[in-house]
Amino acid sequence: MDTDTHRADIDTVAAGAEAVSRNADIISEREQAAIRAATVLIAGCGGGGGVVEPLTRLGVLRFRLADPDRFDVSNLNRQACVQADVGRSKPEAIADRVRALNPSADVTVYPQGLTLENLDEALDGAHVVFDGIDPTMSAWVKYQLHERAARRGIPVLAGMDFGGKPTLYVFDYRRNPVPFYGRASAEAHRENRLWESMRWTGRTHVPSDFLPIQADRFANGGTWPQIGYCVLGLATLATRTVVDLLMNRRTRHVVTMDVHAAVMSRPAALMHRARMPVELVRTRRAIRAAARRPPRPEAAAPQPLRPLPERLATVLGGARLAPSAYNAQPWRFELLDERTVRLAPDPERWPAADRDPLGWAESLGCALGSMTYLAHGEWEARPADQGEAHESIGRFHCDRLRDDVLPRQGALGLRATHREDLLRTPVDQATAKRIELLCAQRNLTLDTVSGPTALARLARTELDSAMAADPARDAELRAWLRERARSEKGRRSFGDPSDLLDRSGATGALARALTSEAVPRALARPLGSAAASGRARRLRNCGAVLVLRGPRRTVADRVEAGATLMHIWLTLTEAGYAAHPLRGEFGRPAGLGPDGDNEILAVLRTGRATTTPLHRVTRCPVEASVRWAE
Ligand SMILES: Cc1cc2nc3c(=O)[nH]c(=O)nc-3n(C[C@H](O)[C@H](O)[C@H](O)COP(=O)(O)O)c2cc1C
Repeated sequence: MDTDTHRADIDTVAAGAEAVSRNADIISEREQAAIRAATVLIAGCGGGGGVVEPLTRLGVLRFRLADPDRFDVSNLNRQACVQADVGRSKPEAIADRVRALNPSADVTVYPQGLTLENLDEALDGAHVVFDGIDPTMSAWVKYQLHERAARRGIPVLAGMDFGGKPTLYVFDYRRNPVPFYGRASAEAHRENRLWESMRWTGRTHVPSDFLPIQADRFANGGTWPQIGYCVLGLATLATRTVVDLLMNRRTRHVVTMDVHAAVMSRPAALMHRARMPVELVRTRRAIRAAARRPPRPEAAAPQPLRPLPERLATVLGGARLAPSAYNAQPWRFELLDERTVRLAPDPERWPAADRDPLGWAESLGCALGSMTYLAHGEWEARPADQGEAHESIGRFHCDRLRDDVLPRQGALGLRATHREDLLRTPVDQATAKRIELLCAQRNLTLDTVSGPTALARLARTELDSAMAADPARDAELRAWLRERARSEKGRRSFGDPSDLLDRSGATGALARALTSEAVPRALARPLGSAAASGRARRLRNCGAVLVLRGPRRTVADRVEAGATLMHIWLTLTEAGYAAHPLRGEFGRPAGLGPDGDNEILAVLRTGRATTTPLHRVTRCPVEASVRWAE
């Protein structure tokens, strides 16, 4: 029996040494010994919990873990927990993780968190403390932790995650035994004056892209956004700092890295830095103004008349993100019951200047396409319709959400109109097959134009048709969009009309000049040709142009075309391609003329993008498009 116990001891020692054997030379033998002998107190296991795993992997064996909180679902984006931990005490769940990594670890858990009563016990014999205490929850305990650690000469690391910039403040109380190095007072903590009790974080360490968020939260309250890679970065910085502190080395007071700036291009990173002073001034002003303002009476939240059924809320949330010509969002959703929605056009949201009497129908089709993309269900088109502008066009009965509804919501949110030049990489075969199948299932034809010669030919024919377009109609449309953008209602749904008609750069300037009153007619033609050639150039600069054909007589035909366009666009998005529909802009492509039941339904330019779409145009809130049927 004795021999067995002895054997087990030897095994533990050998396993312990082997587990950290790959640290060798990066971590010296002496450092590894100091790590093995260390006791680390983690005060607050939310952000602090992230430090525990890398420290355990480094070889730390003794932990004291304190936190009164339990894991919830919103912690999953960044904290050291898994789904099964939701509802569990944070320090207990993390202690299990430590023991799973190293069964011989010695972990003391304080599930009630640090209190004025147990603080001394928790600090006894600790070599280093990681302070992850939320100052908004327990400011006074936080202060006491620093004060008592300072008295004992125990170094404390205080972690902050400012957006994308993990920042570690090292208070090495062996060298300077003053709580927070004198940069925050006991009174401010005792009286819960958050802004003052956070003074020790300084101003210049908050990155310029987080300052506006900080100003907003100080002024208006609300939860602080926090991101996983920042918490991981903090754990990385803290782990190395612990090694240096255990070796009694001097460290920097502020240990930090800006992850966002590290990834940006150099000019963008310079701009990010240069914005600092401006953002600092704004933040200070916002905080001062908030401090002067008397507390606001709680605004009564507007009561929703009748909440959307959960399943339809998801489905309509997707429909809201559908593209529409001119971003008009010309749809109305009429709820018939918990699962059924009637789709109808909203004539108020459609420009009278559009000459196509059924112009709105494809956009409604896109909304329907979004719904069927998210949910299984049945679409019952209203028969024999010739496009009564106010009437419903059919009803969608939602059976159930698709199993992969979450990634599908992702693709819907990601889809955008890319009007910029695209790379000439053609669409890969698997994606092309999926798109062909989509069209075949709906009895629609798909032509794919790709390769420089074919695209250049298409660009030339497009140029001709663009030249034949009616500039008066273009001006009328632009005026309608401008008017909508001016009104409060329009602003919420349309965003900036320049996104839609006046493209950016030289082409945009030419297009605007072309329709302005100031330009004499004689000049309009050369200007028009320059603007059109700019647009046609984009047809050459893409991977492929997809032309969807089929019958185009009834509302049902056009709705079907829109739904198919939507599914094609989403298939491209899923595979990482950018897309840009062209019909509205280019008129009917001259080289692809009408042919009865084989008319052009949609033209989609696609390829890989190297830029983000400049503006994300605004959408109406779902509620603004929903009515409950009487
Ligand atoms: C049927 C239809 C036709 C469209 N035609 C054009 C077009 O000719 N030119 C263009 O730049 N965008 C066109 N769009 C794109 C819309 O302007 C765009 O989807 C809308 O502004 C929403 O922006 P988003 O796609 O970035 O979300 C069209 C969209 C649809 C649904």
